[in-house]
Amino acid sequence: MNKVLIAQIEELLKEEDKLSSLCNVASAIFYNVENINWAGFYFYKNGKLQLGPFQGKVACTSIEIGKGVCGSAYKRKMLLNVNDVHKFAGHIACDPESNSELVVPLIYENKILGVLDIDSQFYRRFGNEEEETMEEIAKLVAKKLAAK
Ligand code: SME
Repeated sequence: MNKVLIAQIEELLKEEDKLSSLCNVASAIFYNVENINWAGFYFYKNGKLQLGPFQGKVACTSIEIGKGVCGSAYKRKMLLNVNDVHKFAGHIACDPESNSELVVPLIYENKILGVLDIDSQFYRRFGNEEEETMEEIAKLVAKKLAAK
């Protein structure tokens, strides 16, 4: 687990405004995790996943529940680590350069609020280290989102 990044994100989440702090969290992930080409959030809104703060190329603004890696992770309420996105049925290609993807649900008190998504231009980019780090970040972000 990348404890330095987690500590930085804990600091960033002390900012009161949720949108401002999550914009910085997306940037902190993007610039501190090597070999990724996209990092950001989709939030559940009006029955779909809606694009939130991110760093990387322009992305699809909304994703149906159950569609793509993000919609599947949300529907199944579980982390999805996809070694080769081209082999994932229904993968949504926002950036054709992406070859692997890690999506972690944002869950607070059993309620799923959205997903954290990171993409890489490399195949098989993500392992235990990234899974554990992103799960911890997702927990912190979900708590922030649920706070008043
Ligand atoms: N590839 C994702 C869509 C979001 S982008 O990667 C930013 C998916 O299949 O859900």
